[in-house]
Amino acid sequence: MEGIIIKGTGSYTPKNVINNIKLGEIVDTSDEWILTRTGIKERKISIDENTSDLAIKACKIAIKNAKISSLDIDLIVLATCTPDMLIPSTACIVQKALGCDNAVSFDISAACTGFIYALDIAKSLIKSNNYKNALVIGAETLSKIVNWEDRTTCVLFGDGAGAVVLSKSEEEGIIESFCKTDAKKYECLVAPSNDLNNPFIKNHIKNEKYLKMDGQEVFKFATTTIVNSIKEVLEKANMTIDEIDYIVPHQANIRIIEHSAKKLKIDKEKFYTNLENYGNTSAASIPIALHELNEKKNLKKGDKIILVGFGGGLTFGATIIKWCV
Ligand code: ACO
Repeated sequence: MEGIIIKGTGSYTPKNVINNIKLGEIVDTSDEWILTRTGIKERKISIDENTSDLAIKACKIAIKNAKISSLDIDLIVLATCTPDMLIPSTACIVQKALGCDNAVSFDISAACTGFIYALDIAKSLIKSNNYKNALVIGAETLSKIVNWEDRTTCVLFGDGAGAVVLSKSEEEGIIESFCKTDAKKYECLVAPSNDLNNPFIKNHIKNEKYLKMDGQEVFKFATTTIVNSIKEVLEKANMTIDEIDYIVPHQANIRIIEHSAKKLKIDKEKFYTNLENYGNTSAASIPIALHELNEKKNLKKGDKIILVGFGGGLTFGATIIKWCV
């Protein structure tokens, strides 16, 4: 049988650690508020590395763990909402730095669900276009688009990158997946790009400068979406939750994860969480957590893992993987 497997994982986060107490020196907040409302204790904030720098370091680890060479990579799909530049894509910068000279490279934008979308796109392209080894990356420097004077958002986010090598194989490691978008409420989480600007415009309308979020609206969306997405992907795969060893959710807020565990009537330990040390790293959160899960729990061949994401768009999706290495 021909299938697709995750052959290697990697992650990288900046060395600059900002804990809640330090944030209290910047905005009117407290360790107690952030911890009880979100579960976050600290986050990594980049000082001198852009999104591509984080991605390159994560990819080097993933390629090494996959035991292949950069030249074996023929596809790079990078999910980010904080690219280095508008042109070229961050994936192109990563391709050059890694010497992946045989690859086609591009970015995708699906906010915090970006990695789930990227995995699905890479899987489809491997199947339809006969690619052999894809780098699938989630990489972000959210710190450059949050308003550091807005305590309702700046305490939530962190910077980082995670990557996997997705390869053609005789085994099937991607059991089932789906991605969806519900754009009706996209306004509840927005971040700006360049203003419309040309000599023919009489009255310039200035865009917002920073990320803006209606936290409670996103919270409501997230709690129902995680539960429904897990149920939907299990149903598609004709599997039950008892057959799943771990769930790696987008790491936004511990309350969202605890609520989901309760609704699904499962032990919350089944959810792998590390948001207390990283905050919400958007598209990077799932691959960072997957790499850490693999390192810490020593994933065994045959383990079944659900990856589940939700975020701006509003986007959501889930994937069931079987660990095959
Ligand atoms: N420190 C201290 N007080 C604060 C802070 C802070 N950092 N932030 C807000 N407050 C205050 C508010 O001003 C408010 O005060 P008031 O009652 O006097 O008006 C009070 O705390 C309560 O604020 P709420 O917004 O109601 O707090 P809530 O319990 O809803 O928690 C939170 C806010 C953590 C943002 C929550 O709504 C949440 O987690 N939402 C989901 C976010 C998410 O999951 N995003 C994922 C997608 S991100 C992406 O796609 C890029």
